[in-house]
Amino acid sequence: MKIAVYAGTFDPITNGHLDIARRASCLFDRIIIAVARDNYKNTMFDLEERCHMVREAVSDQPNITVVPFDGLLVDFCRSQGATSIIRGLRAVSDFDKEFQMALLNRQLNGGIETVFLMSDAKYLYISSSIIRNSAVLGGDIRDLVPPCVAEALKKKLAK
Ligand code: COA
Repeated sequence: MKIAVYAGTFDPITNGHLDIARRASCLFDRIIIAVARDNYKNTMFDLEERCHMVREAVSDQPNITVVPFDGLLVDFCRSQGATSIIRGLRAVSDFDKEFQMALLNRQLNGGIETVFLMSDAKYLYISSSIIRNSAVLGGDIRDLVPPCVAEALKKKLAK
C-alpha cells in the first residue's frame, strides 16, 4: 500500500490545501494529513480545532485520514509507514524553501521521497495568514475555505 503524508500547520485549512490533498488522494492508496502541533507559529486555532476542521473538510474522502504530529516529519512518516511527503507549490517563490526542505528531509531519511503538486491557478494567492487577516478585517472568505472553516472563523472572531 502506497501511503503519503501531507503535512502543514493548517491554521486554518484552505481550499488550496484541500485541492492538493484531493489530487494526491488519486495518486496514492492513502493520504495522511499531518497537522503540526505549533511549528513555532502563534496559531489562531489550537491543535484540536485545526484537526477538527481538517477532518470535517475531508470527511467525504475515504482514503484521507487526519493525524496530529510533533517532532520531525520524516520520523512521523516512518511511524505511519509512509514513503512519500506531498508538498504543494503555488509559485516560483515557494520553490527555494521547498527545495531546501525536501533536501533536508532526504538527508534525514533517504527512503522518503518528496512529491510536489502544482496548485490550481485559482488558489495560487491563498495562504492561511491571508485568510486569517481578511477574516479579522471583515472580508468575505467563504469562496476560499471549506464551510466548516468559514463558520469556525466567524465564531472565533465573534468572541
Ligand atoms: N494552498 C494554500 N496555501 C498553502 C499551500 C497550498 N497548496 N501550500 C502552502 N500554503 C501556505 C500555508 O497555508 C502557509 O501559510 P501561512 O504561512 O500564511 O500560515 C504557508 O503556505 C506555508 O506553508 P507550509 O510551507 O506548508 O508550512 P506549514 O507551516 O504549514 O508546515 C511543516 C510546515 C509543518 C510541514 C514543516 O515545518 C515540518 O515538516 N515541520 C516538522 C519539523 C521538521 O521535520 N523539520 C525538518 C524539515 S523542514
